[in-house]
Amino acid sequence: MSGYRVGVLGATGAVGSTVLDVLAERSFPISELVPLASERSAGKRLPFAGGEVECLALGEESIQGLDLVISSAGGSVSSEWAPRLVAAGAVVVDNTSFWRMHDDVPLVVSEVNPDAAEGHRGLIANPNCSTMQMVVALKPILDTVGIERLVISTYQSVSGTGQRAIEELSGQSRAVLAGDAAKPDVYPHQIAFNVLPHVETFKDGDDYTTEERKMMAETRKILGTGDELGISATCARVPVFGAHSESVNVQTREPLEADACRELLAAAPGVVVLDDPAAGAYPTATEVTGRDEVFVGRIRRDPSHERCLNLWIVGDNLRKGAATNAVQVAEVLVERDLVRVPEPSLAAA
Ligand SMILES: NC(=O)c1ccc[n+]([C@@H]2O[C@H](COP(=O)([O-])OP(=O)(O)OC[C@H]3O[C@@H](n4cnc5c(N)ncnc54)[C@H](OP(=O)(O)O)[C@@H]3O)[C@@H](O)[C@H]2O)c1
Repeated sequence: MSGYRVGVLGATGAVGSTVLDVLAERSFPISELVPLASERSAGKRLPFAGGEVECLALGEESIQGLDLVISSAGGSVSSEWAPRLVAAGAVVVDNTSFWRMHDDVPLVVSEVNPDAAEGHRGLIANPNCSTMQMVVALKPILDTVGIERLVISTYQSVSGTGQRAIEELSGQSRAVLAGDAAKPDVYPHQIAFNVLPHVETFKDGDDYTTEERKMMAETRKILGTGDELGISATCARVPVFGAHSESVNVQTREPLEADACRELLAAAPGVVVLDDPAAGAYPTATEVTGRDEVFVGRIRRDPSHERCLNLWIVGDNLRKGAATNAVQVAEVLVERDLVRVPEPSLAAA
C-alpha cells in the first residue's frame, strides 16, 4: 500500500480512538499505521478500517521510521515526546495544549488559517476544542465586517476531559438514579445532573480557568488579531457525553444583519446553519455528536447593541474539536508536500 507511516499517539484514548476512525473514514494515505500509548496498553488490539491494529508502548524504538504522528496523550507526554518524535524524523500534529502558544509552532484550523502550516518546524498544534469550533464560525464574519469583541459562555461535554470522565458521568448517573451517593473523582464536584462553572484548573492568583485563558489566547493567535480583539469567556462543564455548545455574543466593526450573517455562514466551509427556532430547528449536542461540521443556530440581533449578534455554536469536541481537524491538517501537509521535518527543526530549539 502506498502512503505514509502514520503514528497515532494516545490511540486508546477518547481523542486517539476517534483519530483512528477519522483516518480510515477519510482514506488518509497510510502505508502502515502505528498506534502508540502507555505501557499499560501494549499489545491491545484496536479497531481500524474494518480490521484491528496492535498498540505499541511509546518508546525510542517504537517511534523510529514514522513520517507523521498525530499525538493526543496529554501535555506532559507531549512536552517530552514531541521533540523526540521530530528528532526521529516525524512531523507531529499535536492535540495537547503544551505547544499551542509556542512562537515557533503554528496553531492551525484547516478552514481558517491553513497557510500557517507552511512555516512548521516539525510540529503543528491543534487548538483547544471549544476554540476550534468557534473560530470556524467566526472567520467569515471577521473577514467580512471585522470583529471587535466576543463574550462567550460554553456548555462543555465530559468527553472533553477524556475517557475517565465519560465513565464518571455514566457511573454517577446510575448511582443517583438508584438513590446512591455519586462520588466525584475526575471532577471536583458531582457532574451527573449538575453544572460546574469550572473547566480545567484555576492557576494561583487567576480568577479565570486555564480553559478560559486558552480560549482567549488561542482565538487571537489563530485569527491573527492580537490584543485588539476583546474576549471574555466563561466555560462550564455540563452532564452531556459528547459535543460542546457555546453562546457567543459577537460585536462586529461594521453592522451585520442576522439574515446576512446566516447567508455568510451557510456558504462557509465546515459550517452548517440550522436556524429555524420556531420549528424547533437549532443545533443540539446529541444531534451534532458524530458530525465533522460546526453547527450554528439562534442567529439573532442583540437588542442591547446595534453591532452585536448572538450565535449558538455546537461542535463535536472529539471530531472537529480534535481528531477531524488533526487529520485535515495532516491532509494540508500532504497536499502541500510538507510531510518532512525542515532544518533547523523544533527538536533543535
Ligand atoms: N477530549 C477532547 O475533546 C480533547 C479535545 C482537544 C484536545 N484534547 C487533548 O488531547 C489529549 C488527550 O485527550 P483524551 O481526551 O483523549 O484523553 P484520554 O481519553 O485520557 O486518553 C489519553 C491517552 O494518552 C495515553 N497516555 C497517557 N499517558 C501516556 C504515556 N505516559 N505514554 C504514552 N501514552 C500515554 C493513554 O494511553 P493508555 O490508555 O495506555 O493510558 C491514552 O491513549 C489531552 O492533551 C487533551 O487535552 C482533548
